[in-house]
Amino acid sequence: MQHLSASMEPFKGNDLRKVLFVEKVRAARGDIKKLGESPYLVEIIPTPRCNSRCSFCSYRKRNAHHRTPLRELSLPKIENVFQHISPSTKGIFISGGGEPTCYEHIEELLQLCVELCDTGLCSNYADIDKVSDASLAALAFYEWSVVAGDRVTYTTVTTRMQKMFDRVGVNIRRVVSLRDMLPQNHIQYLIAKVLICRDNYKTISRILGYLDALGVDSIALRLVNNYEDIDVELRSGQLEDLKAISSREQITSLEHKLCHHTDPEKTNRLLLASECYTVTQGHFAIIDCDGEVYVCVPSSTDRQWSIGNINVQPWHEIWGSERHKDVVEALNCTYTKGNCKLSGCRHFNFNCALERGRKGKDQDVCLKDFQEMLGAFI
Ligand SMILES: C[S@@+](CC[C@H](N)C(=O)[O-])C[C@H]1O[C@@H](n2cnc3c(N)ncnc32)[C@H](O)[C@@H]1O
Ligand code: SF4
Ligand code: SF4
Repeated sequence: MQHLSASMEPFKGNDLRKVLFVEKVRAARGDIKKLGESPYLVEIIPTPRCNSRCSFCSYRKRNAHHRTPLRELSLPKIENVFQHISPSTKGIFISGGGEPTCYEHIEELLQLCVELCDTGLCSNYADIDKVSDASLAALAFYEWSVVAGDRVTYTTVTTRMQKMFDRVGVNIRRVVSLRDMLPQNHIQYLIAKVLICRDNYKTISRILGYLDALGVDSIALRLVNNYEDIDVELRSGQLEDLKAISSREQITSLEHKLCHHTDPEKTNRLLLASECYTVTQGHFAIIDCDGEVYVCVPSSTDRQWSIGNINVQPWHEIWGSERHKDVVEALNCTYTKGNCKLSGCRHFNFNCALERGRKGKDQDVCLKDFQEMLGAFI
């Protein structure tokens, strides 16, 4: 049995992440030292609330200060930001944690985002009922966090009732049918991101079989990490078990993933570029539910790294400000000293690819450098 994964060729012609990656390298070739006039990708975290309690997720701890009193994204403030960002922003990613579909104004937020540029939604897709067909169909990509391929495991991981597993399946079929109704030239992509944790790793083959049957465009396998110092990563014996299962079942991409996040020597060797272009060129802005703006994923839980707040400042006083430049310099210093928390970073690999990509002459060179971890949406 062979399984698709983000590291292998997608079975649909259009892979949005590759398209965006190539564009990003092209944009970055212009002036390597310059901070972009706008973030390439804006990630929005609308709410700290969640409909689930996944055993591996530490969002409750991370968001304790956002939950009481409840701090959620102000829709007018985000509208304000959108009025001031430039066309060099290519994508919006609505995520969490929390769970974005718990945000009361999710429908209005989606409508605002899809007007502006390609928009993706990272969700467990358990409660998308309040999102209209029109808004769902207007999305460019769907990132579905998958935790189980059967009812019992679903309940063990999430603590939600078993029947919710069936509801997720119904919701995903709805997404698939909306995707399939669109004209061929409309790029849309459904990524199933499998979170492999202590509660589900033994059922990996069942999860992959379940996903094959649903018609997703690609499957990304992701081992969970110990964020916020909560001990959730697979123990060494469990990793060995998983490797044995993967080799028995011929799950081709698993080995790469296993190395990627668990071997510090291998990940440290990825710190090869002369700087972290992700932050120095401003590829990324994360706006959290409290309005704080960050430029680097692992640092986005700590206010000392915030470059400003959209609730108290207009966007032009945040992006490109002295504060922004100071934060970039400090983060870049962490990078060049090899001190980044790479297990929490989705972007470090891009830095090396960008340096190689700058020397390349055509799109093929860049595409060769594309790996699943370079995709900003994984
Ligand atoms: C925090 S969630 C928010 C969005 C939404 N609630 C969901 O689950 O898709 C963002 C992504 O981080 C993943 N995640 C959560 N805890 C993780 C962990 N310990 N290690 C790796 N990824 C994790 C989630 O599964 C999800 O794909
Ligand atoms: S992974 Fe997503 S759905 Fe699960 S508890 Fe965390 S934020 Fe909620
Ligand atoms: S963790 Fe390091 S490599 Fe990743 S974005 Fe932040 S500074 Fe760059």
